[in-house]
Amino acid sequence: MKYLIGNHKMNLSEKELKVYFKDLKKVAKNASNYVGVCVPFVYLPLANKMCKCSKIHYGVQNMHYEKQGAFTGEVSANMLKDYNCELVVLGHSERRNLFFETDEMVNKKVLCALENGLTPILCVGETLEQREQKQTNKVLKKQIVSALNGVKKEDLTKMFFAYEPVWAIGTGKSATCEIAKKAIVFIKQTILKLYGLTDENLVVLYGGSLNAKNVNEILSEPEIDGGLIGGASLKVQEFEKLINFKN
Ligand code: 13P
Repeated sequence: MKYLIGNHKMNLSEKELKVYFKDLKKVAKNASNYVGVCVPFVYLPLANKMCKCSKIHYGVQNMHYEKQGAFTGEVSANMLKDYNCELVVLGHSERRNLFFETDEMVNKKVLCALENGLTPILCVGETLEQREQKQTNKVLKKQIVSALNGVKKEDLTKMFFAYEPVWAIGTGKSATCEIAKKAIVFIKQTILKLYGLTDENLVVLYGGSLNAKNVNEILSEPEIDGGLIGGASLKVQEFEKLINFKN
């Protein structure tokens, strides 16, 4: 089984999303893979209403780590839980780069999500410059080690990880299967080493221009546990082709 999770980012209207969920429910019903969708905060109540009694897992794309207080514009874990939220994307490169999220903030968010029974999808990835300077592993290690600070060993399987090279996001230029595999194996080994484990069922997804054309090549690699999909998750007719991936 693979994990196929859509990250809608700031796309689709309520009207569009209603049709989307109606269609996706039918696809998910017959799917043998895990199907998830992360929507903008305002549509979480709609996702809650429409995905109930379906095989669609749903969530959001960010949250704040404090319980409550004077944090204008932010949303807490408790608020998400009011709508039975399950997934929360954390540390996405768009949050890190456009909204200045630091490794420390990502770490606090991961801890808060786990404490509240939410499933974090922790994103890590290098920029093109960092890759060209052969800094990829160093960057990935730093992001992982700081994000997992204080996370208990037994919580590692209660979260998803996503390798999202910044240069592949929204560019139409996905990583090759080889590049994605190498980084994902490195991520898994880094986590195992950090916790002194030899084996654990870690789920690490690939994200970055994954689409109906390249999905078979990339997901056929056993080390890649699934995909975190932006653009290609916005239309059910396309997302369906990824969801129906078979080994
Ligand atoms: P694209 O699939 O649009 O490249 O986006 C990937 C992504 O950022 C998922 O979180």
